[in-house]
Amino acid sequence: MMIPKEHLYDNAKTTSNSGQIELLKKHFPSCFDKNGAFIPHKMSEVVGQSALELSKESYSLNWLGKSYARLLANETPFTLLREDKKHNQKEANQNSENLLIKGDNLEVLKHLKNAYSESIKMIYIDPPYNTGGDGFVYNDDRKFTPEQLMRLAGIELDEAKRILEFTRSKANSHSAWLTFMYPRLYIARELLKDDGVIFISIDDNEQAQLKLLCDEVFGEENFVESLIWKRRATPPNDRVIGRNHEYILVYAKNIYNIFLSLQPRGEKLNSRFSNPNNDEKGAWVASDLSANGKGGRITESCIFEIVNPQTGEKYLPPKNKCWLYNEEKIKSLILEGRISFRERTGTPFLKRYLNEVREGSTLATILENYGFSQDSAKEIKELFDNDVFDFPKPLKLLKTLILSGLTTSNDLILDFFAGSGTTAHAVMDLNAQDNGNRKFICVQLPELTDPKSEAHKAGYTTIFDITKARIEKASEKIKKETSLLHQNMDLGFKIFETMPLFEGYLDDMEELSKEQTLFDGTLLNDEALEALLVTWKVYDGQSLTTPLQRVSLSAYAAYLGGKNLYLMHKGFDMEALKAFIAKLDSDKDFNPSKIVLFGYNFESKTQRELKEAMSVYTNKKAIELDIVVRY
Ligand SMILES: C[S@@+](CC[C@H](N)C(=O)[O-])C[C@H]1O[C@@H](n2cnc3c(N)ncnc32)[C@H](O)[C@@H]1O
Repeated sequence: MMIPKEHLYDNAKTTSNSGQIELLKKHFPSCFDKNGAFIPHKMSEVVGQSALELSKESYSLNWLGKSYARLLANETPFTLLREDKKHNQKEANQNSENLLIKGDNLEVLKHLKNAYSESIKMIYIDPPYNTGGDGFVYNDDRKFTPEQLMRLAGIELDEAKRILEFTRSKANSHSAWLTFMYPRLYIARELLKDDGVIFISIDDNEQAQLKLLCDEVFGEENFVESLIWKRRATPPNDRVIGRNHEYILVYAKNIYNIFLSLQPRGEKLNSRFSNPNNDEKGAWVASDLSANGKGGRITESCIFEIVNPQTGEKYLPPKNKCWLYNEEKIKSLILEGRISFRERTGTPFLKRYLNEVREGSTLATILENYGFSQDSAKEIKELFDNDVFDFPKPLKLLKTLILSGLTTSNDLILDFFAGSGTTAHAVMDLNAQDNGNRKFICVQLPELTDPKSEAHKAGYTTIFDITKARIEKASEKIKKETSLLHQNMDLGFKIFETMPLFEGYLDDMEELSKEQTLFDGTLLNDEALEALLVTWKVYDGQSLTTPLQRVSLSAYAAYLGGKNLYLMHKGFDMEALKAFIAKLDSDKDFNPSKIVLFGYNFESKTQRELKEAMSVYTNKKAIELDIVVRY
């Protein structure tokens, strides 16, 4: 029997909608015929008449390059990830779960997609605003021919030619900016937890475009607010109307899962909570389960009968109102015991637990006193003694956003346009303030600094160098200033970076199906194999900070990551196979469920021998152990 082959860089079947079709197939197989063709009327059965009626309004954002952007979102990365061992082995960083990743954020987001899917509570980004003077130009080195692009993006040849013209001409049009942002936001959404929130800084150059883009990516229903941040105390007088604000667009992954308004707590509020039924989650207060609908609009999917599982009684929401959540969510809340029924009237209510109520003051849409640009410039100057970074955001603003993103003290926070690293600094500061354990992931391009800039003169040749130095300096400052840091306070960070794929690696793609390989695995030194391992580990869903365990199989070194055993090196012989089986037999903690072979280092004969030996072993022991050959 053949061992299944995987090529992580194979985009032969990737198109502008291949990922979305896969998702539909996975969740709604009945909507496809036996040849895999979509049957629209089956989908209308799935969503039901009411949903169809509501979606009659047809309105969408279009731009030159949209189908190209969708193709980019679906493609696999074309880089590897490697770690900065020297930095990561330092004592302060060894056990850290904070991450700073160097590289183009689209590549990095793609690498993170499996391991960090639905695990980020809050994303803050401050992308290039496309002011004309901020250096934004569209930049990618994908090499499609117009004919290829026409086929993959499902567009006309003429459109394909025009798109390739602008992607290659360092354009900064609205279309170029939207093409840049779309795939990044699309993947960012996949990383958000179901109760996650994204905050995006922007100004009037692209705010209108961004709002519509986010409506498309996150769903208009999930728009939370457009905040106005006052960035200058006094307006500049170089315009007819002095502009002294920027926007921060806020979207939820799922609007029904977030409560963005913070409640001031204090004794008076606490006294409203009690625990008459000895609820194991502690003291609670009953709160209304009905709502007026978002923005005063009643949400149809939130009007249905809630059934009391004990009595079978059914309850509709009060007149002109809907329930807070849709049916699926309400059912799961009943199962969790978070929805109860009043003794006297029987009506359902939501239990809000004291230990889940967040402290803070209510955030309003106008952020007037959350630090000005001037303050953030001072914050940088204080750390670096120089103005090494133009227009960082103030710490106070970031801390406020992180808290209002309803992060709890263990949440993961992502900023993939890290700049000077204000988000990372804010996360560490907040942890020091409240003994929290929030983690950050920051991504920054090694963009060159201007040779005439203070940053360059101070030795920072790339912006990434500034990000790294800021986090280190902030960490030192916190250590110095805070006397009561809790023992496990994570003030370190690990560094990873993208690197180009090995030369010739992709040339083999077509040959793989013909059972022959041109690429020579022996050309790869240990460092290269380590980069493959890091890349595969996250591809297989392990976090970047989870260490791989070296496993000795006689003289052969294998690596265990979660339940995957990676066999990367050449030279897997009979002795190694025997040692492997002996370890499976004798070591009760060693129970991988999948073996991943590096195809270029395993001849077909060795692959077959391993497969046969494993089949015999797993049949005898009645265990599952898959094998896959990966390229
Ligand atoms: C406006 S700055 C962010 C400033 C940040 N909020 C702060 O407080 O310092 C945007 C940053 O995104 C970076 N950037 C732009 N394109 C990028 C990309 N494709 N991948 C990663 N970083 C990128 C730029 O180098 C710049 O440092």
